[in-house]
Amino acid sequence: MRPKTKQKLNAKKLAQLLEVIRDRRSVRSFDPGDRVPRETLEQIADAGRWAPSGANSQPWEICIIEDPERVREVASVMASQADRLNEHCKGFPHVHKKHWVHDSVAILAVFVDPRWADTYPVALEDDLDRIEYMENRSNILLVSVGAAIQNLQLATTAVGLTSAWLSGGGEPQTALALQKLLGFPSSHTPYGIVPIGWPRRKAESRWRRPIDEVVHWNEAVEANLRTQEDIDHYLAKERRHSIYKDAEARELHLERLPNDGEIDLVDDGNH
Ligand SMILES: Cc1cc2nc3c(=O)[nH]c(=O)nc-3n(C[C@H](O)[C@H](O)[C@H](O)COP(=O)(O)O)c2cc1C
Repeated sequence: MRPKTKQKLNAKKLAQLLEVIRDRRSVRSFDPGDRVPRETLEQIADAGRWAPSGANSQPWEICIIEDPERVREVASVMASQADRLNEHCKGFPHVHKKHWVHDSVAILAVFVDPRWADTYPVALEDDLDRIEYMENRSNILLVSVGAAIQNLQLATTAVGLTSAWLSGGGEPQTALALQKLLGFPSSHTPYGIVPIGWPRRKAESRWRRPIDEVVHWNEAVEANLRTQEDIDHYLAKERRHSIYKDAEARELHLERLPNDGEIDLVDDGNH
């Protein structure tokens, strides 16, 4: 049977979208600058609102922080979060303390109410629920939130601003501080803190796995699947260069890997 409507691929629109997607970079230093109209900030938030979510539950509240004093307060909370992380986490690479967040023109805090996971599939029997569905409800919640945050970031890029996605808001101490500061109840956790600012310059491209390795046509290509050794190697040698550096600088640094235990300063390719 012939389709009712004319089927036509829109290569132009796809190319425009891919350009925005590729241009989105996590930028961790902003040029202080003019405030951004509320209308634009609301449009950015609207991009988040249009994200897909499990059961169309839309488990997020998007708090737009644009009052300069408020921005400073949230930035201070995130600076304390970074200090704690630097102190307590196993060698997680960090650029510098999160003081750059103070230069944000706005911060979008995406609060999530995990009770909405109850709207996803629940088995009739408890045992089956535990084995088959329970964990996946949390997954559905989190990936839904991820889609919303990604949308915010893409809209931010499209309008010529830039952003980063900070996940530390989900850590209980930081969550509590942000709930208190912004008036959210304890049922709501700020999984995504997205500072938005004016780019200092065009951000470089980041390393991505080659497309042939990531894409599997119709079935898995076993040789392309990454192994535990790959994870161990990434953790030991590559992670610190893969998060903050542009793709070229990463290659250079990988060639001259420091010996174990040797201090290797991490800088941010966006500076
Ligand atoms: C779920 C999630 C959590 C992240 N958390 C942080 C974070 O806490 N701090 C940070 O500086 N970047 C964070 N990032 C940004 C990643 O480091 C970044 O996306 C990755 O290194 C690739 O760089 P790109 O975004 O410029 O392409 C996070 C990204 C995601 C998707």
